[in-house]
Amino acid sequence: MRSRVFAIANQKGGVGKTTTAINLAASLALGDQAVLAVDMDPQGNLTSGVGQKGNYAPAGTIYEALTAESTPPVDDYIVSTCVSGLSLLPADRELTGAEIELVSAERREQRLRRLLEQVRGRYDYILVDTPPSLGLLTLNTLVAADGVIVPVVCEYFALEGLAYLKDNVSRVGKGFNPGLEIVGVVLTMADLRTNLGKQVAAEVQSVFGSKVFETVIPRNVRLGEAPSHGLPVILYDVRSKGAEAYLALAREFLACTRAYPPPAGEMLSG
Ligand SMILES: Nc1ncnc2c1ncn2[C@@H]1O[C@H](COP(=O)(O)OP(=O)(O)OP(=O)(O)O)[C@@H](O)[C@H]1O
Ligand SMILES: [Mg+2]
Repeated sequence: MRSRVFAIANQKGGVGKTTTAINLAASLALGDQAVLAVDMDPQGNLTSGVGQKGNYAPAGTIYEALTAESTPPVDDYIVSTCVSGLSLLPADRELTGAEIELVSAERREQRLRRLLEQVRGRYDYILVDTPPSLGLLTLNTLVAADGVIVPVVCEYFALEGLAYLKDNVSRVGKGFNPGLEIVGVVLTMADLRTNLGKQVAAEVQSVFGSKVFETVIPRNVRLGEAPSHGLPVILYDVRSKGAEAYLALAREFLACTRAYPPPAGEMLSG
């Protein structure tokens, strides 16, 4: 087994990155996949959304793992969650410091990649949630990833900034991580009954074509409530439209990533 690592990224804030990371990870885990969720956002919403706020390993959070002098054993930082099969590399506000502390560090953009390489043999999927920016934390994630999943909110201005994200992904691909590409676009918080919702969905499809997942995540109150209980929506209300949608997305994701070519060898050496 060699894990596929996916970055969930969009520098636009509040588009459903974390909601997608939590619920896709949990849905995959319930489908018997071994999953590691990685929180690369100092907001720590992924960590609290799976009920692990403050529940860290003795070695600390991903902040300590990323800023250690030499690459530490990543296992020292991984914790389990309420979902069987779903593990977590947690973060909290301290992670903000990493952006600054790593500025002059050697191979600063490869820190996460080196950590995750250690456990690629153990998980089917590693999903990494990123902050709403294209700084060093997102760069580390793109360097560590095999593919990028982009949540796009079904609203006016949804496409704004996506060209910039696309450029960034191809720049990171050229510079550090050949083969990196956007593998899927997820429409989130959709209300396809409205003309605006339909119009945005059509526009996103015209830009990303077959990369747009058929499953559309509807706006659903339960999805908004679940994180405050520290639960993925499938454990909070399995019958909700939100839970159904993320389970369907996980099925589609499994099918499309099975066909996805295995990651190109070890690009990192020395
Ligand atoms: N499909 C949905 N229906 C209803 N509420 C949603 C849905 N998806 C996300 N939300 C809510 O919208 C808000 C933003 O979602 P989320 O935190 O996932 O976005 P994000 O892209 O991770 O944000 P940030 O850029 O700040 O990290 C949250 O309060 C979340 O609970
Ligand atoms: Mg988030």
